[in-house]
Amino acid sequence: MPYRTIIEPFRIHSVQAIAFPTESEREEALRRAGYNLFGLHSAEVIIDLLTDSGTGSMSAEQWAAMMIGDESYAGSRSWFRFYDVVSSLTGLPEVIPVHQGRAAEWILFSSVAGPEAVVPNNTHFDTTRANIEFQGAEARDLVIAEGRDPSADHPFKGNMDIGALERTIAEVGPERIPLVMVTVTNNSGGGQPVSLANLRDIRAVCDRHGLPFFMDAARFAENAWFIKLREPGHADRSPRDIATEMFSLVDGVTFSAKKDAIANIGGFLAMRDPELAARCRNLLILTEGFPTYGGLAGRDLEAIATGLEEVLDERYLRYRIRSTEYLAEKCRDAGVPIVWPPGGHAVYIDAKALLPHIPQLQYPAQALAVELYRDGGVRGVEIGSVMFGVPHEDGTETPAAMELVRLAVPRRTYTQSHIDYVGEVVLSVAGRSDSLRGLRIVDQAPWLRHFTATFEPL
Ligand code: F0G
Repeated sequence: MPYRTIIEPFRIHSVQAIAFPTESEREEALRRAGYNLFGLHSAEVIIDLLTDSGTGSMSAEQWAAMMIGDESYAGSRSWFRFYDVVSSLTGLPEVIPVHQGRAAEWILFSSVAGPEAVVPNNTHFDTTRANIEFQGAEARDLVIAEGRDPSADHPFKGNMDIGALERTIAEVGPERIPLVMVTVTNNSGGGQPVSLANLRDIRAVCDRHGLPFFMDAARFAENAWFIKLREPGHADRSPRDIATEMFSLVDGVTFSAKKDAIANIGGFLAMRDPELAARCRNLLILTEGFPTYGGLAGRDLEAIATGLEEVLDERYLRYRIRSTEYLAEKCRDAGVPIVWPPGGHAVYIDAKALLPHIPQLQYPAQALAVELYRDGGVRGVEIGSVMFGVPHEDGTETPAAMELVRLAVPRRTYTQSHIDYVGEVVLSVAGRSDSLRGLRIVDQAPWLRHFTATFEPL
């Protein structure tokens, strides 16, 4: 299509006002929240890039589908539509609806992982890691070396290190590995894609050792688009065709519908193995609900089904990936260190490189996230030692591999001028980065501490 600027492929049909807290209101909000941006009220935030999860705008078609949601407890029409859309997209016959992705993780790992288990992944998302560790098992990250280096240019920085996977299997033995997982795109590693070739290689390793292969498919459509753009031989395929092949390589998926189903809530667990599915359904009934609704209303099932159809639209995906890249280019062109190439759903600022004067255990990425809010009311999230540092009994702490601030772009929600504003805020803070100071943790929870920890500026 011969158009030039890649425009938002929608017009706005319903709007929500943005709040404009003053500088002193933002300072007060930071103090109240203990310098943890999860503690802010949304009305204290100007541009909210905390997450792309559940924050997207639904289409008129999704809202219309919600209006005809069938709220029958068992066997609702909305469930059968959801089932048809999910099983025809994924090719997986066993579909278990849940209220969000981590519920699928909890059910899956409660069913397969005990204290001896080791679960390999490219990089576990925080809830995935926590759900594995909650079972007493080990979550092992095996992303390729380039995936740990923010500035290493590689088209598929989410790929798993196949040699490391083989070594892990040899070291712990296949009987201790309940399944191998891969996260597409690799959120905690910068929203980086995984190639089809890598998925095929993981499949081959799993086949050799008789191991099930599961995919965390939260951002499968964005991953499929990257394959189309970057992997030789796939440029002429439709995103749906590529996605179908990705799903064909796995035995099951966990899925948060809050990302690439462009819904505000929901998820599913899907698989081939009917015996495992039966065990998972027993837990589902205990914690989520009857198997034809999981933790969801019939209208949610409708919104997800429609979203899954919309997300593979080429015009949507071209705009989606380009709008993230647009913000990334603004940062890079001004010399702000970011994970390059940019991820699908977010720009990740490399706080270790931007703030070399702040030691990792004074949380440079948290300090940067706080400053972006203080400066311009932009809320991002720390993905560094607050989220992934390991505190030890003796009070010491092992820092995370990377110190990143993620600016996640909600789907179909902000326009180009919002993103231009975010770029201005990032550049203004980066321009005076040597004035930033670190933080100290005052209070923290035993797991997933980043959600509730409180801090004090140093
Ligand atoms: N897997 C990945 C890759 C995720 O990014 C998330 C959530 C989950 C699983 C869990 O799904 O939130 O529906 O329970 N990520 C959000 C984020 C929270 O901000 O990246 P959930």
